[in-house]
Amino acid sequence: MKKLVVFASGSGSNFQAIIDAVKQKKLNVEIAGLITNRDKIGAIDRAIKNRIPFQVVQVSDDELFAKRLAELLHQWQPDLIILAGFLKKIPSEIVSAYPDKIINIHPALLPKFGGKGFYGLRVHKAVLESGDAVTGCTVHFVDNEYDCGQIIEQIEVPVFASDSPESLAKRVLKAEHELLPSVINNLINKTN
Ligand code: GRF
Repeated sequence: MKKLVVFASGSGSNFQAIIDAVKQKKLNVEIAGLITNRDKIGAIDRAIKNRIPFQVVQVSDDELFAKRLAELLHQWQPDLIILAGFLKKIPSEIVSAYPDKIINIHPALLPKFGGKGFYGLRVHKAVLESGDAVTGCTVHFVDNEYDCGQIIEQIEVPVFASDSPESLAKRVLKAEHELLPSVINNLINKTN
């Protein structure tokens, strides 16, 4: 069975969407492990609850950070690496070691509202300020620039005049939970 490793830094609702898709047999993969760069986060609670191995990698030295990630990935041997709200840049050594095997989910229609500093509610605030009537979410391959790799798939989400960044974030997140497991499924089946 194909294996995934998920990276997360926050509540892990996208991680949960993957777990649920596996449980519902919509996704035929093994989640080999979770890597986080913070402790006491929702994503870890979800890993514990679902008996998924996890490792917290809190290393400020760049070289050691890359080394630790490389060790874990070597141990878990993923076919696909999923960045699901991981707020630290993936070292270039890791990007080159896993070509076309690292994907990220972003809560906007890239190339709009992406890049350094565009994360969390900041993205949705910027969308509202732009006056755009449509936003969405994007899954893309990861390269060495933030949010710049090749776009795999997007879902559009309407923006309403009454929206706050929070209400917009909630609507986009719902679409993310649909998009991410579906893209993983397509990629896994492609490499069969
Ligand atoms: C999501 O909006 C995702 O697009 C972004 O970070 C957020 C993570 O949310 N990269 P969660 O931790 O999966 O709930």
